[in-house]
Amino acid sequence: MANTERIIVFDTTLRDGEQSPGASMNIEEKLRIAHQLEKMNVDVIEAGFPIASDGDFEAVRKIAQTIKGPQIAGLSRSSELDINRAWEALKYAGERGRIHTFIATSDIHMKYKLKMSDQEVLDGAVKAVQLAASYTPNVEFSAEDAVRTRLPFLAQVIKAVIEAGATTVNIPDTVGYTVPSEYFDMIRYLKQNVSNIDKAIISVHCHNDLGLAVANSLAAVQAGARQVECTINGIGERAGNCSLEEIVMVLRTRQDILAYSTDVMTEQIVPASKLLSTITGIQVQQNKAVVGANAFAHEAGIHQHGVMMEKSTYEIMTPESVGLNQNKLVLGKHSGRHAFNDRLKSLGYDLNREESEKAFVRFKSLADKKKEIFDEDLDAIVADEVLRVPETFKLLQMNISCGSFATPTATVEMEIGGKVKKVAVLGDGPVDATFKAIKKLTKSQAKLLNFSVGAITGGTDAQGECTVRLVEDGRETLGAGAHPDIIVASAKAYINALNKIAGKAIASMKSPV
Ligand code: KIV
Ligand code: ZN
Repeated sequence: MANTERIIVFDTTLRDGEQSPGASMNIEEKLRIAHQLEKMNVDVIEAGFPIASDGDFEAVRKIAQTIKGPQIAGLSRSSELDINRAWEALKYAGERGRIHTFIATSDIHMKYKLKMSDQEVLDGAVKAVQLAASYTPNVEFSAEDAVRTRLPFLAQVIKAVIEAGATTVNIPDTVGYTVPSEYFDMIRYLKQNVSNIDKAIISVHCHNDLGLAVANSLAAVQAGARQVECTINGIGERAGNCSLEEIVMVLRTRQDILAYSTDVMTEQIVPASKLLSTITGIQVQQNKAVVGANAFAHEAGIHQHGVMMEKSTYEIMTPESVGLNQNKLVLGKHSGRHAFNDRLKSLGYDLNREESEKAFVRFKSLADKKKEIFDEDLDAIVADEVLRVPETFKLLQMNISCGSFATPTATVEMEIGGKVKKVAVLGDGPVDATFKAIKKLTKSQAKLLNFSVGAITGGTDAQGECTVRLVEDGRETLGAGAHPDIIVASAKAYINALNKIAGKAIASMKSPV
């Protein structure tokens, strides 16, 4: 685009995003997200934190080996061990491999967390960047909790790390504390007080604790930052990170006054959002900007009338521009493979032959029970059949007896370690009885934190969609399941969560930041 300054989009869904409670992904799931980010044409994919666990290391290595377009970043603390491990995973990306090293610079972090003086932190940062730069010229340094750092000290650290070889310097709002005007001034201050600042790209990384992550990122861009760190659906630690779809669409929609652009293929935004929700089981709120179910819904008559006459009366961006295809082609039991595969493609799924065959069989079986199949049903089928984690525990059959006269009883048959096991258990309700039966069969110690039920589409023949959040050894895991019978959907969600816990590929240790 002419006369616009390009903003680098650094996606950290697979690193900071994965630090959301319940958002752990296995290697295959991370790779799927990475492929979608590649399709979306983000500039940098932060693939993980290699030292955090073997699972994280493998995911970063696999992504560095497989993904061809974007740069691949891996996080490391400012220690030799971390940096060496990060490069071991990243080296497969060659020049596109980026070591992202960080150390906290605020008084509060230095005193209570690091127990280090200014000089020690400064020396540590410089040493880390020098080591990283000995592997690659593509080095990013982050001053963790920069927003609560004394400005002269922050400027001193930033100058020193640029001298040491950092080519990107990140100024994170780690705790989501700043406001746009303050953040603008901070970036301006660094531009004016760090003599070598022109030798590096200024990056921003905002958390959303006060709901200002996107506004703060935008203010920083206006002050001179040229890289924005963000996540799909804004997922991330606590209240999340700057949402990719929001910042990208702000820059695209308001080019009239902002004059910045990104290379993101915005039509891939909704497919990316859906894929992430499907994989993690974390749905976005209905009124979420850009990707929420209501983002382009016009309920009030006056709005509907206006949009019918002229879309721009109430729409500042088109649904098509973010990849929302509102022409919901409804499939039915007579739809063939071709229509089915076409529909999956337009929903953003890139399935291989075996996967699309599996999904097609499931679609046919659903179409026998349900007259019309909507896009949401297809999302659920893909989630259930294709994005399924390896099944340590497999549901074979189940039967429920319940009602106003009966004591709820669940009879559940499962395959566990190659053996068929069956049990009948009483409960306070059909779901309670089912979960107790599964727990008994699997001998799981995981505690149930949360259970939710919804209908995927309208109508009494709608598929039920359940999510189950379990916690074991302090780590939360979310499971999802869909089925026309809501109790079967609940069982599938519970077993899906147990399979995720059991899956060896899941990172065995939460990232230490
Ligand atoms: O929030 C933060 O400060 C981070 C850094 C490690 C970049 O995630
Ligand atoms: Zn962060």
